[in-house]
Amino acid sequence: MNSETLPEKPMLLTLLGECQTPIPFWFMRQAGRYLPEYRAMRAKAGSFLDLCYSPDLAVEVSLQPIRRFGMDGVIMFSDILVVPEALGIGLRYIEGEGPKLEIIRQRHPLPRYEKETFLCRLAPVFETLKRLSANAPKATTLIGFAGAPWTVASYMIEGGSSKDFSKSKAWAFEEPGSFDAVIKLLVDATSDYLLAQIEAGAECVQIFDSWAGVLPEAALQRWSLLPISEMAKRVREKHPDTPIIVFPRGVGPCYEMFARDPNITAISLDSTVPLAWAAKVLQPHAVLQGNLDPLYLVSGGATMREEANRILETLRSGPFIFNLGHGIVPQTPPQHVGELAQLIRGWKD
Ligand code: CP3
Repeated sequence: MNSETLPEKPMLLTLLGECQTPIPFWFMRQAGRYLPEYRAMRAKAGSFLDLCYSPDLAVEVSLQPIRRFGMDGVIMFSDILVVPEALGIGLRYIEGEGPKLEIIRQRHPLPRYEKETFLCRLAPVFETLKRLSANAPKATTLIGFAGAPWTVASYMIEGGSSKDFSKSKAWAFEEPGSFDAVIKLLVDATSDYLLAQIEAGAECVQIFDSWAGVLPEAALQRWSLLPISEMAKRVREKHPDTPIIVFPRGVGPCYEMFARDPNITAISLDSTVPLAWAAKVLQPHAVLQGNLDPLYLVSGGATMREEANRILETLRSGPFIFNLGHGIVPQTPPQHVGELAQLIRGWKD
């Protein structure tokens, strides 16, 4: 392909339904601790949150993986938990333990949503996007993101990461009406947040429902699919051409109801989704993204290459973006990421 026929933004074109060669790729958590230059920047910032809220540093960290590996997508550097923080809920990240949040309790008042204050607190994120939009390579697609209401609510109710989600489920199952109010608060805030990201330059957005997979079917519909679909609808009403990628991790056969939702453009597959099933059942309804197990990137070598080839062969019959099934883990050798990037770039059917 010569430079005249090279599409300007292969990832964006794929999201719009046009299959591209070579297949576009990016990796969830592509910026992070596996890169020495990230660790240096993180040390300079002092804390993870300072890094998220310093546009200069956040832009630099977002571009680090692109400089090394030339991904087709650049994801703004931030975290899903800046949303509860901007709603007034205390947030800290403790080294080795992960995020700790002030807890919201059943039968206690919820934070009130004030749009102006909320968006004002997130101003550094929009500044990061504006600068990325001006400085990222031309062929790269700028990705904004947010957590889905269920996943973010679970961090607010459990006070951090959880093994069994017992407090969140107790609240949802004992008092579904009052749990709906928590979800509604997050739908309102997150929709405004995504709209503001698009206005600051995001060319597509990804909604992470990392913990969707712990919900039984009816609860999944009510507290994962419905709120995500409502947010996607609100985004579409104002920005009908901005693709929306959804990552309902771990939902198995329920991936189909996400793929069939008319408001959702693309589905990000976790590593356990069978590929032939995804190609047959999901790809006619949605653009697909995924799904190499991030631990293959730690192992590298022939097993990684075989698995990546299998994914490419099975999913390239429809619009497809190569990604992982979850985020890059800190012990990943950067060299393996480079080898995978080369394989995807050079791959032909
Ligand atoms: O490169 C990118 O993908 C963009 C940045 C990004 C981060 N977090 C940076 C980060 C994105 C898109 C996220 C999303 C996110 N954050 C999710 C959804 C995706 C998923 O992984 O399931 C979730 C659940 C979170 C919440 C979160 N943030 C946890 C549980 C943790 C601690 C665990 C860990 O890996 O340390 C974080 C911290 C975090 N977010 C780091 C990074 C680079 C590590 C911070 C550091 O110590 O430098």
